[in-house]
Amino acid sequence: MAKKTSKGTRAADAALPEDVAEEIARLSAEISHHDALYYREDAPEISDAAYDALRRRLTELEAAHPELRREDSPSETVGAAPVAAFGKIRHDVPMLSLGNAFSDEDVVEFGKRVRRFLNVAEDDTLEITAEPKIDGLSISIRYEDGKLVQAATRGDGFEGENVTANVLTIKEIPHTLKGKGVPDVIDVRGEIYLGHADFSALNAAQAEAGGKVFANPRNAAAGSLRQLDSGITAKRPLRFFAYAWGAASKLSADTQAGVLAAFEAWGLPVNPLLRVTREADELIAFYREIELKRAGLGYDIDGVVYKVNRLDYQERLGFVSRSPRWAIAHKFAAERATTVLNKIDIQVGRTGALTPVAKLEPVTVGGVVVSNATLHNEDEIRRKDIREGDTVVVQRAGDVIPQVVEVLLDKRPTNSKPFEFPTVCPICSSHAVREADDEGNAVDVVRRCTGGLICPAQVKERLKHFVSRNALDIEGLGAEKIEFFFETGRIRSAADIFTLEARDQASDEPLTKVRGFKETSVRKLFSAIDARRSVSLDRFLFALGIRHIGETTAKDLAKAYGTLDALLAAVNAAIQDGKESDAYREIDDIEGIGETVVDALIDFFSEPHNREQIAALRNELTVTPFERPQVKDTPVSGKTVVFTGTLTKLTRSEAKAQAERLGAKVSGSVSKKTDYVVAGAEAGSKLDNARALGVTVLSEDEWLALIG
Ligand code: IVH
Repeated sequence: MAKKTSKGTRAADAALPEDVAEEIARLSAEISHHDALYYREDAPEISDAAYDALRRRLTELEAAHPELRREDSPSETVGAAPVAAFGKIRHDVPMLSLGNAFSDEDVVEFGKRVRRFLNVAEDDTLEITAEPKIDGLSISIRYEDGKLVQAATRGDGFEGENVTANVLTIKEIPHTLKGKGVPDVIDVRGEIYLGHADFSALNAAQAEAGGKVFANPRNAAAGSLRQLDSGITAKRPLRFFAYAWGAASKLSADTQAGVLAAFEAWGLPVNPLLRVTREADELIAFYREIELKRAGLGYDIDGVVYKVNRLDYQERLGFVSRSPRWAIAHKFAAERATTVLNKIDIQVGRTGALTPVAKLEPVTVGGVVVSNATLHNEDEIRRKDIREGDTVVVQRAGDVIPQVVEVLLDKRPTNSKPFEFPTVCPICSSHAVREADDEGNAVDVVRRCTGGLICPAQVKERLKHFVSRNALDIEGLGAEKIEFFFETGRIRSAADIFTLEARDQASDEPLTKVRGFKETSVRKLFSAIDARRSVSLDRFLFALGIRHIGETTAKDLAKAYGTLDALLAAVNAAIQDGKESDAYREIDDIEGIGETVVDALIDFFSEPHNREQIAALRNELTVTPFERPQVKDTPVSGKTVVFTGTLTKLTRSEAKAQAERLGAKVSGSVSKKTDYVVAGAEAGSKLDNARALGVTVLSEDEWLALIG
């Protein structure tokens, strides 16, 4: 039977497939693997478009399913850790990455997002620079008193390799900055690349000498820069464009374009195609122009980059995870191929979601052999009328597991039949249903197995998640072992993991007698399990696999409540007092938390068997309080602030982000623990509460003065 959605607010979330933990894990591993190949070995196996597709798919999945986001998600990191052979250099300002736009709509949305954040009206000017996105490798070059003193690769974004000796051999990079206004210290950032003609000549010479032939100019540039012998780098005609900066003691302009003009005046190469535009239409026109010019540029580009021109705006916009809010990369489109779809497989994930996967006749798309494609869900199959035996167009843009974009109907076999999506779980044969509203209309695109804990697929997947790297991180207890322990009845619940050793010792068939297990490995496993008898609150929350609670959300909750008991008390109060209550709102008001998450918490903790699970786990392990990294030495670090009423100089999101950046905790409700209430116009009950409790009330201006 279809069941009613419990919360109307969830329809939007429910409209997305959520059985993706596995795909996220696979994507993360795949991206890390390709990162290492790309950044460390300069020998990628896949095209950049395919790589972007992986990242885009991951971002999409993480956005739709924040509960599944991994702490080590490659979406949070850039590049790969530095290679030991080069010395390491810590970037004073991290070298982050750019968010991607793949369509005109994404570009329009970027403009809107920026305006919304800054509260800049539609008819007010918002200048945005546009420039080609150079497909090379990024570098940070430090000049002190105008002298090049150090150069570092991006590495993992925080720490790169010291390639100073090699960078000094690049002719286009000045050893000394000339002219006026050169600051005492500046980290100039840009891209090192190799032109097409130089690349061809280099490869011809390499082939002739029996050396390494590079797959593309980017790899050749990276390989050339990362030579331990700088004499080799000197022979490669590497080039450079400056487009950004990190630490700087002073800047000579208050716009992006202005600073780049200064760079140029100091002798640094800046891309001549850079243009200052006034947003969406002009940006898109620029993109089209560059797309047409692309082939004739003489160097590889993989899109264009847009940046908010005013630096004070950039500062206010700040960063979100790995990318600035003030810039975006508009990428060129990805590649497609045609193949036969042999079969549609149904996979069952840890939440019981049935996910259709197309098994394809292997085909090369953008240099990678593809044999699986995601079909998303049954509506998608029906909408595109995808059938077994069809010839389909497969695309790797935005998808690691590529997507079927189109069916070639003229190639359809005459005996083909529409695909019938199963209504029972292929693993446990329980009914598989879709959430529906009161009228019986499906509101969830995902069909789920109702087998819950009796469905081996779900229990096993939950257990795998529980022990995974970003959850409990139990070394030596990977997916395969969980399969084995589950199938042999040794582990059927999370708490069983911690009683495994005791039960094993009392058992007739201890693990040491099982084929494939050796005494040392068993001992190691037990001690790895013991090592996790203490786990931080955020990891614990994430490990529970609560719907919509990924790593980021788990951290937000842990940060807000500190201890499991405090969180449980808050959730219990919300369960008791209901949706309209202060208790509910208190959770909802936490930065990063919305109704979907509060509802998911309520659903999870209302289930007696989940409470039993937690109690059983707490018998075995200690959940340690969350330790908040302290931002010190700001006037508001460690203070609790509540914003209320309408702010005029800052938007609410900006005010929150700024306060948090300065180490304050932003809360949604006023209590005795509140340090400041910042009251804008028409502040209501929160202001009254603040006064009643004797909490310091600040106007928006007073707040801005306080934070300087
Ligand atoms: S601005 C905070 N501008 O693209 C990031 N990046 O995908 C500032 N890239 O890491 C980067 N051309 O290696 C910027 N004109 C350009 C670029 C550019 C290429 C690279 C750069 C960056 C990556 C992000």
